[in-house]
Amino acid sequence: MGNKKIILIVDDDKTVLFFLDKALKTIGYETHISLSGTDALSIARKQRPDLVLLDVQMPEMDGITTMEELHKLHPGLPVIFQTGQEDVETLEKAFRKGAVDFIIKPAKILELDTRIRKVIISSCFDQSGFSCNVPEITIWEQNQALLDTQLEIICRLTKVAEYKDIDTANHIVRMAYYSVLLAREIGIEQRICWLILNASPMHDIGKVGIPDSILLKPDKLTDDEWKVMVRHPFIGSKILKCSKSEIIRMGEIIAMSHHEKWDGSGYPRKLKGEDIPLVGRITAIADVFDALTSMRPYKKAWSAEEAFNLIEKDRGKHFDPVLVEAFLNIKEKILSVKEKFKG
Ligand SMILES: [Fe+2]
Ligand SMILES: [Fe+2]
Repeated sequence: MGNKKIILIVDDDKTVLFFLDKALKTIGYETHISLSGTDALSIARKQRPDLVLLDVQMPEMDGITTMEELHKLHPGLPVIFQTGQEDVETLEKAFRKGAVDFIIKPAKILELDTRIRKVIISSCFDQSGFSCNVPEITIWEQNQALLDTQLEIICRLTKVAEYKDIDTANHIVRMAYYSVLLAREIGIEQRICWLILNASPMHDIGKVGIPDSILLKPDKLTDDEWKVMVRHPFIGSKILKCSKSEIIRMGEIIAMSHHEKWDGSGYPRKLKGEDIPLVGRITAIADVFDALTSMRPYKKAWSAEEAFNLIEKDRGKHFDPVLVEAFLNIKEKILSVKEKFKG
């Protein structure tokens, strides 16, 4: 068994089932197969798979019900749906109920493999919280190895900034998760959410260029010191710009725009409304919420309710009003991330 990831394949069509079983085994996964939802549940009860590849249309217990039952057994278990055609309504329902991705049949194995890896990596974030914990998968394609390297570099780069800053490592993790939860709430696709998860930890990378006397000053900054401080988005952008990596390119956008405000009073470019990139508007809420609810040398941690109230009050001033509403809709999810990564 070793480090092989376990994929549970569920499909009532034997041809599809056996084809996928053989193909996934060949490229290095361990597989469990099942012709029905009921059978899948008894397999999953014995051993938690790393991922489930689930047919939507099945007699007896359909895919969505099977997924719901699987989630009762193993909350957070990643499920990719296989569907005969692009049935938007069913897919929408599947995503609402917790599916993480879908693939149109007949699945192309290379595409399926890439999706599986991305989902497993994302779920590894979900379980462990930070990107150093890249899962071990037996066979890596060259592009997977590159992706792996990117994640490692990002992780190490972010750590450099942490050494300079008073923020804890958990600030970055919480902020990344809050951003993704908010992005999901407004319907941003899984792949972009994954980019946000990996890119948002770089938002303050530019602080490496700010002198400690300013960055760590416990008192209010003077006007001159503030002029230096507000350069950190520019510095971050300089560090990250012109990358071929999608994650780093998104990191640059976030670094440059996370201090812009909806009413145009932010920095560094005083962008207004929808001129501010969406990821900048999303991460602004996540970053401020976490800063408010965290202790600083010069302030106590606010209660979550106080922070939610401030964000609501700043709707249309600091923050995008639509995003504020979405953020307030997911209070419980936000609180569970806050609890999971406290400190
Ligand atoms: Fe910042
Ligand atoms: Fe931050």
